[in-house]
Amino acid sequence: ETRIGGSGPLSGRKAIVTSGPTHEPIDPVRYIANRSSGKQGHAIAAALARLGADVTLISGPVTIADPAGVRVVRIERAEEMRDAVLSALPADVAVMVAAVADWRVASTAGNKIKKRPGEAPPSLRLAENPDILKTVGHHASRPRLVIGFAAETENVSENGRAKLEKKGADYILANDVSPETGIMGGDRNRVKLIGRDGTEDWPEMGKDDVAEKLAALIEKKLSAQ
Ligand code: CTP
Ligand code: CA
Repeated sequence: ETRIGGSGPLSGRKAIVTSGPTHEPIDPVRYIANRSSGKQGHAIAAALARLGADVTLISGPVTIADPAGVRVVRIERAEEMRDAVLSALPADVAVMVAAVADWRVASTAGNKIKKRPGEAPPSLRLAENPDILKTVGHHASRPRLVIGFAAETENVSENGRAKLEKKGADYILANDVSPETGIMGGDRNRVKLIGRDGTEDWPEMGKDDVAEKLAALIEKKLSAQ
């Protein structure tokens, strides 16, 4: 039994962090998903735990190790992630880092879909997944601080600010995930911190350093009355 929550400036504070992708099944052997290593979300959960927070990390399928001192809830689908997040409320802070699949397959096949020689390939009908960040941002038990990410390939600041408004978040960390940046799957990140009262460009740094800097901001905001 690992120890959750410890001493430090965030002692007694509850944090929810989502991380990794979600997998949306097509049939028992196939799924659709977003690209996500889970590195940034797991690093944020670890950084909050190091400051003494009681952290619940809700993660989709990843290959990296569980962070130390964190309660880990493993899920596969976006609807499972939403249910796990709502079960973990109330909390002081929620940080949504997961790359949630925007759509799931409308009706999952119970058996493996077989190739049928001479027939057209199957079509997938999709249904929209719940927006977990938006749900939490507008929830009756909304955490005092709600933070999201915005992975963009163009118009990073504009798209990030629009997400801040739409989802009822206090901050959005927006990053450019165009293939040429090499950010997806890598160990480094360059984000813009978009808040209600302005935008801050953080220099490129390791995902662990982004996590530390965000945890320090969370500590500062939660300690201000
Ligand atoms: N998010 C979420 N639930 C979803 C989709 C996104 O909680 N169903 C969260 C992500 O974890 C992230 C933020 O919302 O913190 C922004 O995700 P993103 O995919 O960039 O935004 P979308 O609103 O899905 O817009 P789009 O993909 O069309 O750019
Ligand atoms: Ca999306």
